[in-house]
Amino acid sequence: MTLTETASRADTFDLTGRRTIVTGASRGIGRAITLGFAARGAQVVAVARSAGDLEETSRLAADSPGAVHPLTGDLRGASDGPAQVVERAVDLLGGLDVLVNNAGYDNEQGIDDTTAEEWDKVIDLNVRSTFLLCQAASPFLRDGGGKVVNVASMFGHVGSREELAYITSKHAVMGMTKALALEWARKDIQVNALCPGFVDTEMLARAMADEAAAKYLRRMTPLGRWAQPEEMVGPAVFLASAASDFMTGQALIVDGGYTAQ
Ligand SMILES: NC(=O)c1ccc[n+]([C@@H]2O[C@H](COP(=O)([O-])OP(=O)(O)OC[C@H]3O[C@@H](n4cnc5c(N)ncnc54)[C@H](OP(=O)(O)O)[C@@H]3O)[C@@H](O)[C@H]2O)c1
Repeated sequence: MTLTETASRADTFDLTGRRTIVTGASRGIGRAITLGFAARGAQVVAVARSAGDLEETSRLAADSPGAVHPLTGDLRGASDGPAQVVERAVDLLGGLDVLVNNAGYDNEQGIDDTTAEEWDKVIDLNVRSTFLLCQAASPFLRDGGGKVVNVASMFGHVGSREELAYITSKHAVMGMTKALALEWARKDIQVNALCPGFVDTEMLARAMADEAAAKYLRRMTPLGRWAQPEEMVGPAVFLASAASDFMTGQALIVDGGYTAQ
């Protein structure tokens, strides 16, 4: 498709037929993105460890113009886990246009409490699996039109106390996003990061249930509230669609103003 044709398309945010992998799709932000993409016509392979929750994601998309195919897999540990996930997804989809690296883990510990095992657990999922998934996806993402969306965090840009491994991992994902964007720029594959602020998911459930912590999260966010997972869908659709074709190696920070302070 020429640039003029792309620009004049009625909906450059359309995802019809886009063959997509979304990791961490069993709940939270990943489930919302999966459902949002299927609602815009994408064919999504939804990846996580919990088969039952993935089935529920798929069930919720039953009336969508697109489709959701559940695929259980552990992205941590075995080094061929991510590659197997990509291989099985490509078999299901017949190819791959979009990879959304969303699965993540936060151990919520500072330097004195973080064991080497916990450090590895965070880095393994948040950084290493993102690298391995991108590497495995590389031969399948078509030259021109391929997209990678790395779900990083506003904490890929600023620090926070008592989250040492997580903050480190999200800064690493930002570095990977820029480096890979440059490697793949001449293949016309765009690599960008979606960087949420506080979002109402299981990851933040403990903080949100604690009155003092919840008050702090609200006070620290200029919009005065945290986001719902569905509020990450529009930004993710933008990064996965033709609407973002001239954007690569960048962060879309959706944080209610947190990092503007
Ligand atoms: N919530 C926030 O405030 C916030 C803010 C900024 C950035 N983020 C980022 O957004 C992303 C999604 O977070 P969330 O808040 O939606 O978290 P969440 O509710 O805890 O969901 C995490 C997802 O990752 C999957 N997952 C965890 N370990 C996995 C593994 N070893 N292999 C495969 N899948 C695995 C989980 O599924 P299973 O347990 O079924 O495997 C689940 O689907 C993360 O990268 C997070 O860092 C979140």
